[in-house]
Amino acid sequence: MFFKKKNFAADIMSADINKVVKDTGLTHIAFIMDGNGRWATAKGLPREAGHSVGVKTFKKTVSRCRDYGIQTVTTYAFSTENWKRPENEVREIMRLLDTYIKEAEDDNEKNRIRYIFLGDKSRLDPRLQEKCSYLENLTQDNPLTLNIALNYGGRSEITQACNALIAKGNAVTEEDISAMLYTRESPDPDLIVRTGGEYRLSNFLLWQAAYAELYFTDCLWPDYDDIELRRAILEFSKRKRRFGGV
Ligand code: IPE
Ligand code: IPE
Ligand code: MG
Repeated sequence: MFFKKKNFAADIMSADINKVVKDTGLTHIAFIMDGNGRWATAKGLPREAGHSVGVKTFKKTVSRCRDYGIQTVTTYAFSTENWKRPENEVREIMRLLDTYIKEAEDDNEKNRIRYIFLGDKSRLDPRLQEKCSYLENLTQDNPLTLNIALNYGGRSEITQACNALIAKGNAVTEEDISAMLYTRESPDPDLIVRTGGEYRLSNFLLWQAAYAELYFTDCLWPDYDDIELRRAILEFSKRKRRFGGV
């Protein structure tokens, strides 16, 4: 009964999310933005249209997270497995990224976001690689960290970290691996949200998710809105995190 009442939209919208974020120590939310293709197909549009609206949804979501006092946002933009998709779709995703980066540069003074790209950049178009690096350097002193996982795979990330450590020739500790991951500048995520109704990680943050709270919603990513974000944060606040203790 209580739980049901708690889920009323009016309750969700009137909750003081900034306070919830502060009280629960929620600092880092990661999003698996899934469902762009299905969203477009359901509307009789090409899948690319879903990605295009998905970028807009993403920008709004980041700005809401900032308003709620979240310090680190991580998003899964393109996986190491997503190259399997039709060439046109991959090209369009890369084009959207290119535009996104340009706008991020233009809006830097206003947004004050620190961009970090997680993943193996070497497979990207060299011009896109340069733009990613330029944006990372330009924004490195900004307060809100936004990690964008691009050509990212959790297994490939751990493998490259191990190889880097082997090259150094020392025995390897958990801390050493954490320090070699693409995410080394960010704390582990507190909350991982996956949209699109799939209950899996799809190779996202395998190491870092060890004690993350997982939240799944059927909402397709382009439809992800404030009430969805608030619902996820409120659900997070009800979880009892034990980290293996009692
Ligand atoms: C997620 O949406 C975006 C990317 C993987 C780039 P999808 O494109 O996977 O959408 P669905 O899952 O096919 O609906
Ligand atoms: C995960 O979504 C990758 C991103 C959101 C970028 P996918 O749509 O690629 O995952 P699967 O194929 O359903 O597991
Ligand atoms: Mg998908």
